[in-house]
Amino acid sequence: MLIAGNWKMFKGAHQAREFAAQITRLDDRSSGVDVVVCPPFVSLQATIQGLGEGSNVSVYAQNVHWELEGAFTGEVSAPMLLELGVKGAIVGHSERRQRFGETDDTVGQRAEAALEAGLAVIACVGETEADREAEETEAVLELQIGAIPEHERLVIAYEPVWAIGTGRTASSEIAQEAHAFIKSLHPTRVLYGGSVNAENARTLLSQPDVDGALVGGASLDAQSFEAICLAAAEIAGE
Ligand code: 13P
Repeated sequence: MLIAGNWKMFKGAHQAREFAAQITRLDDRSSGVDVVVCPPFVSLQATIQGLGEGSNVSVYAQNVHWELEGAFTGEVSAPMLLELGVKGAIVGHSERRQRFGETDDTVGQRAEAALEAGLAVIACVGETEADREAEETEAVLELQIGAIPEHERLVIAYEPVWAIGTGRTASSEIAQEAHAFIKSLHPTRVLYGGSVNAENARTLLSQPDVDGALVGGASLDAQSFEAICLAAAEIAGE
C-alpha cells in the first residue's frame, strides 16, 4: 500500500518544515504503508530536513525533466533532486497535461529519465468527464499507459480528471474497474486519486486492485493525511 500526498502549489518552505515535523510521528503506526509527500520544488529541502534522519516518510517532487542539465528554464533534473535527498517524482499529472502542455510523449520521457537516474516514479493517467461520457475511457487510458515504461520503481496513479478537487470521488466500482483495466495493460501497483479524504479512504482502499492513493487537498492537513495513512495501514494488515 502506498499513500502519497500531492501538495500541488501549496506550502512554502516554512509550512513544509512544520508539516514534516508533525508527521514524523506516523513512522511507528504506518507499517505496511509506504508514505510519500510531494511538496513544491522550493520546499523539498525543508520537508526532508523537517522529517529528519531515518524517517520512513519519503519525499518526491511533483515533476522532473528528462535531460540531466541544459537550457530548460523553469525545469529541474533528476540528479538535482537526488542531490537533495528526494526519492521520486510524479509525472504526467492531469494539471500539467491540461494546463502546461504535457503530452504522453513528454510524460514517457520524464518517467524514463527519472527511473534511469534512480528515482521512483508516480505516473498519472485518467480520463476527462467528456471522455467518460463518450465511452472513451478505456481508449484514453490505453494511449496514456502505452507511453509509460514498465519498471519496479514505477507506480501508476489513476486520477479521473472529473474527480480531482471536485469532491466527486469515483465510486469504488468505477475505481476498481479502471484499476483492473490498467493492470491488464501494465503490471504494476495502481493508486487512486481524486477527492480522497479521511472519510472515503477506507472504502476505496479496500478494493482489490486499489493499491494506495494519491491525495491532493486532504494531504495538506496533517491530521487528515495521517488518518488516511492509518486507514491504509489497517487494510494492509487485514
Ligand atoms: P484532490 O485530492 O484534491 O482531489 O486532488 C487529487 C490529485 O490531483 C492528487 O494528485
